[in-house]
Order: sequence, then C-alpha cells, then structure tokens
Amino acid sequence: QMAAEPVNLNEFQELARLALPKMYYDFYAGGAEDEHTLKENVEAFHRITFRPRILVDVSRIDLSTTILDYKISAPIIIAPTAWHKLANPEGEVATARAAASCNTIMVLSFTSSSSIEEVAASCNAVCFYQLYVLKKRDIAATLVQRAERNGFKALVLTADAPRLGRREADIKNKMIKPQLKNLEGLLSTKVSSDTGSNLEADAREAMDASLSWKDLEWLRSITNLPILIKGILTREDAIKAVEVGVAGIIVSNHGARQLDYSPATISVLEEVVHAVKGRVPILMDGGVRRGTDVFKALALGAQAVLIGRPVVYGLAAKGEYGVRRVIEMLKDEFELTMALTGCPSVKHITRNHVRTEHERIH
Ligand code: FNR
Repeated sequence: QMAAEPVNLNEFQELARLALPKMYYDFYAGGAEDEHTLKENVEAFHRITFRPRILVDVSRIDLSTTILDYKISAPIIIAPTAWHKLANPEGEVATARAAASCNTIMVLSFTSSSSIEEVAASCNAVCFYQLYVLKKRDIAATLVQRAERNGFKALVLTADAPRLGRREADIKNKMIKPQLKNLEGLLSTKVSSDTGSNLEADAREAMDASLSWKDLEWLRSITNLPILIKGILTREDAIKAVEVGVAGIIVSNHGARQLDYSPATISVLEEVVHAVKGRVPILMDGGVRRGTDVFKALALGAQAVLIGRPVVYGLAAKGEYGVRRVIEMLKDEFELTMALTGCPSVKHITRNHVRTEHERIH
C-alpha cells in the first residue's frame, strides 16, 4: 500500500506511527514523565509572531549559512537520535545519505545502530559525532579517535544526561535496548530484564554521572576536533561553556526526554544568546516542525536549528527519501517565510522580525 505523500513534517509523524511497531514509535515520540516540556517545545513556537517587512526585493532568496566553516544549504541540521535501524533497516547510513544530498550536516548519535565507519564510507556528508562519556573513560577516547580517523568534523558532547530521564511509555512497553553498534566488543551487554524498561537501569550502570566541567579539559586533551556542548538552558552554563573553550553551544532539553518541566528551548534561547555575546555560535533544537520555527530561532539569535523526531519519522515512513523530503519541506517553508518577512538572506533576519508574547506593541 502506497502511503500518501505528506505536505508537512507533522504528517510524517502519522505515517511513522502506522509504519512502526508501537514499542518503537512510542520510543521515538515519547518524552519524560508528564510530557509537559514535550508539548511546550512545540507550543512555545506558536506564541511567537512576526513583524514582517514589505516591499523588500525577495526575488532571490539565499538560505545558505556556515557552521564552523562548513557551508550548508540551509540552517537546518540533523540532531543525534538513537537507533535508526528501528525505523529502517539501512539505519544511519540512509540518514547520512539524505543529509549529503540535502547538503547539510548530520550529527551521528553515540547510540547509533550503524557504525562510525559504515556512515563515513556510505556518503560524503559532513558529520559530527555526538558523545556520551561512560564510566569507562577509555571508551570515549577510542570513539573520539575513530570519529576523527573517519573524517568527522566536530564532537557534540551531550551534557544533559548524567542519568536517563523517566520515559513511561518505554517502561510500559518494556522497551528493549538494541545493540550499540560502535560499542561492540567495548562494553558487555546484558540480557534485558523482563520487569520493565531496561533502558534506564542500563544507562545508569554505564554512564559516568560524575562528569563535570573540569572534564572538558580532559576531553580537549584527547582530540583536536572542535567541541560543541549540547544541553545548555541557562546563562550560567552558557558562560561556563565559553570559559572552558567550547566551539559552540546547542540550546537543548534533549527533545523533552530528560528533565520534564525544563523550559521550552525557544523560550530560553535569547537568555543564552545575550550571555554569550557572539563569542561562540549558538544552535538550538526541540520542537522545530515548520519553516516559520526555523526563522523564529534565527531571529532570536540561533545560527541554525537541529531536528530530531521529524528525521526519524521520515526515515520510518519512507527511508532515505523520507528524510530528504523532511529536510526539503522544512527548507521550502523556511524560504517562503523569508520571502514573506522580507529577508532575502539569513543575514537579513533580525530580532525585529519577531514578537514574543510578552512584548508590548510600541
Ligand atoms: C534523542 N536525542 C538524543 N540526543 C543525544 O544527544 N543523543 C542521543 O542518542 C539522542 N537520542 C534521541 C533519540 C530520540 C528517539 C529522540 C527523539 C531524541 C535528542 C535529540 O538530539 C534532540 O535534542 C531532540 O530530538 C530535538 O527535539 P525534536 O526535534 O525531536 O523535537
């Protein structure tokens, strides 16, 4: 049966739901506890409106931008998400190929189901490697070396997961942890428990919850790659990140899968932007579903956004083609938003092009 051709990112979610076993769909779609932040990530975008400018020549629109010196076709990159083979047998290889054909960057998850080497060999996409630091520190060192050797261009240290958030759908479904491809032979994998989700317990055993700011020095000492830090939600941590020498900051609440009642990322982006004062680039993710969302993030100071779930939904619904369509649709919507707000290039997008809900009309 041919699935209908979706016209927006949200429609891919429904196709993914139909295509996937419930356990996997719930794993991708779910958030922590009450899923308050999960809803807020999306709804906070809805509360921002435009101050569109008219009679600007928008006969040509240039969406392209540069992230750490890599020119990409639009400020939309692929967030690290776990286990793409649960969505499609080609896994992260298909996702990376879609990134390459859209001329954008893919961040490969630490918990990927295709290996660093497979992804590197499958296409010429610019890839970043997302790192979790495990208690066995030498595993991080090994993976960083492999990423470097295989031409990955940057590390993304995810810093909001000393423990795994409580995702009740996974507990109910007894979600089973698939293989961690890159850790084969490095970490012993145990038989999954049948008393509920083993994700949280496994993560608690493996992850190094003692990781702290001083360890950034250690990480910098084992690699020449630029390091971005993912999971910043406050000005205090943004300033610390700049002090320890990161190459960039990703404002993120992990797609609302960690601490519920974290603020929507778009609502704290400006706080971070003001604290950083242009010293390092700032990216954001969480709830980006429309080209208008991409525009709002840029207007509030992000250099680019990352998209998580929509990519996985595209992959589940239609494989590599589906991921490509997700990125293309978001790019098309973003281009139209630029035209209708009077912004012929991303440099033209300013704070004055949006109005947040608390701003009075002067
Ligand atoms: C994630 N995310 C994530 N982040 C990370 O650093 N490493 C990881 O392995 C994962 N895995 C993961 C799996 C799934 C199924 C989801 C939905 C998310 C978080 C991800 O990088 C990103 O922050 C969010 O997905 C962004 O929010 P949206 O776009 O999904 O709303």
